[in-house]
Amino acid sequence: MIEIQDVYKTFNGVPVLKGLNLTIRDGETMVIIGRSGCGKSVLLKHMIGLLKPDAGRILVDGVDIAALGPRELMEIRKKFGMLFQGAALFDSMTVAENVGFALYEHTRMTDQEIRERVTLYLSMVGMEGIEDKKPAELSGGMRKRVGLARAIAIGPQIILYDEPTTGIDPIMGDIINDLILKMRDTLSVSGCAVTHDMTSAYKIADRIAMMYDGRIVQIGSPDEIKNSTNPIVRQFISGSSKGPIKILDD
Ligand SMILES: Nc1ncnc2c1ncn2[C@@H]1O[C@H](COP(=O)(O)OP(=O)(O)O)[C@@H](O)[C@H]1O
Ligand SMILES: [Mg+2]
Repeated sequence: MIEIQDVYKTFNGVPVLKGLNLTIRDGETMVIIGRSGCGKSVLLKHMIGLLKPDAGRILVDGVDIAALGPRELMEIRKKFGMLFQGAALFDSMTVAENVGFALYEHTRMTDQEIRERVTLYLSMVGMEGIEDKKPAELSGGMRKRVGLARAIAIGPQIILYDEPTTGIDPIMGDIINDLILKMRDTLSVSGCAVTHDMTSAYKIADRIAMMYDGRIVQIGSPDEIKNSTNPIVRQFISGSSKGPIKILDD
């Protein structure tokens, strides 16, 4: 589905991705773990072509998206639903307008048809009946769920989740985890989530990849990661300040 091959990216002389390799298979949910600031969001943005690599290839269904122009990139982006960190809803629009946004932009559906689809997607995330509210009226967890409804509205083949459980309480976090599993199992979409929440990672992942120093240091099933002997992975998953991970001021 997605193959990231030897990707490099530097910002203002600071290398963030240093020859990163990763494959996301059809139908799986991949979870990328790593410290804040290690480049997880940067990696996700490369997958949908919001950032271009300095070197390396990003293949989506076999097509190198780094080489595409804006128009072709727009086509490829229709394969993706993205739940941004903080949900990134349009504040001036209602929930219904947010969720239906892509349908208004990219389809010839009537207002009535869109309205029905929006209600369906909202019910899938347990949020029916809030169509006319504004994002400012919603809690963080509700905003994430509306963001998820918007992500699935375009009928994506893959959904990218940027820290889906960060900033919400553990119970709402688990509701989001269940929804991510539901998306995989009922819509048969692939997923890629980045997080530093290990409870969430173990629950939603088919495979987990740990990112450190611009590369993937280990990739495996949740059990393989839990039982990892890699000292970097061990330190991260146990949340210890002692170990080989370089602690920079951040
Ligand atoms: N558009 C950008 N321009 C310059 N630096 C950036 C940009 N996006 C990210 N960075 C830097 O890249 C590093 C990784 O950021 P990010 O991917 O957001 O980390 P995280 O793993 O917490 O998601 C950070 O040092 C950040 O400041
Ligand atoms: Mg981030």
